[in-house]
Amino acid sequence: MTGQVAIHRREGSFSDRWIAYCEQQGIAYKVVNCLDSDIIKQLSSLHALLWHWVHVDPREQLMARDVIAAAEAMDVKVFPSTSTCWHFDNKIAQKYLLEAIGAPLVPTYVFYDLKEALSWIDRASFPKVFKLRRGAGSSNVRLAHSAAEARALAERAFSSGFSPVPHYGQDALKRYRAAKRQGDLLNVVKRIPRVLATIQDNKRTMGRERGYVYFQDFIPGNDFDTRVTVIGDRAFTYTRNVRPGDFRASGSGDVVYDTGRINRKCVEIAFDVTRKVGSQSMAFDFVLGEQQQPFILEVSYCYISHLVHSCPGYWDDRLNWYEGHIWPQDAILIDLLNDLLQSKEKGWPACIP
Ligand SMILES: Nc1ncnc2c1ncn2[C@@H]1O[C@H](COP(=O)(O)OP(=O)(O)O)[C@@H](O)[C@H]1O
Ligand SMILES: [Mg+2]
Repeated sequence: MTGQVAIHRREGSFSDRWIAYCEQQGIAYKVVNCLDSDIIKQLSSLHALLWHWVHVDPREQLMARDVIAAAEAMDVKVFPSTSTCWHFDNKIAQKYLLEAIGAPLVPTYVFYDLKEALSWIDRASFPKVFKLRRGAGSSNVRLAHSAAEARALAERAFSSGFSPVPHYGQDALKRYRAAKRQGDLLNVVKRIPRVLATIQDNKRTMGRERGYVYFQDFIPGNDFDTRVTVIGDRAFTYTRNVRPGDFRASGSGDVVYDTGRINRKCVEIAFDVTRKVGSQSMAFDFVLGEQQQPFILEVSYCYISHLVHSCPGYWDDRLNWYEGHIWPQDAILIDLLNDLLQSKEKGWPACIP
């Protein structure tokens, strides 16, 4: 089947559902590989591109934003658009962006000079949260309990640096639990050599994070964080409990779908920020301060689709509640097609039945 919507296929990504949805609805689409050297030529006869590119693929990290910006220059509608993803997997970019639009980001400090960092550490209060700009599932987030710990982290940041790729052990327990749930332990063991080789390869390609140091004020007393995923005018919400004896929720796998736990201000802020950024979709991590005021920790256009689908419903931007389960991939595709429908150029919307 050929058509005017291009989908970059990667098994296990949003593309599985995008393709299934197009098949079901009779929407003409074409599978492309955005890593092809002539991808711009391939896209020149198409109207839209859907590409769930991810931070764990060093090749996509290297070139996805460039291809997207180039495609937009030819009037191809892309998910994720540049506004949606230029700051993806980059907490430094997010700091500047959220500050620029007056969003309630946790006070965040970044230094590009060791002397300046050390002088700030001398004056700062502790604990602070140390983060690498890249990473997910809390793998590159830790607490600097004291000035001495912060100094050691800063010194390393300006010398050997840190690998942003989590080592095998960091995810081992999660892998073990998932495999046990699926009765798949033997296969996990069989896959170990391949996973180790990929980790090694990614470490080499991604290089080390160095030449900057990033700290955030620590917001204490949060037993869970709040994840708000905005897609167009829908907001899906859930909370994640922190790991036992830890302050970190992301990646704990302990998800709670209790709307009673959701501070509505988080939803309002999420809609407001998404609109100001001009993003098609944005997932927010929130913690709450002493007065229950929401603080944004980070934002991302990528998320785990089944966790969003499991939400019992969603809010619109007037905080009306709609019951029911929706695949985020469907919502993304529907929004992109609506975007196409509104455009009169290129003989739209021949691809939409
Ligand atoms: N400044 C902070 N104060 C309190 N808790 C934090 C702070 N920053 C991060 N956390 C906790 O650590 C987790 C991971 O941090 P986050 O910035 O979301 O990184 P990741 O990209 O790994 O998800 C969050 O889910 C939250 O529970
Ligand atoms: Mg997070």
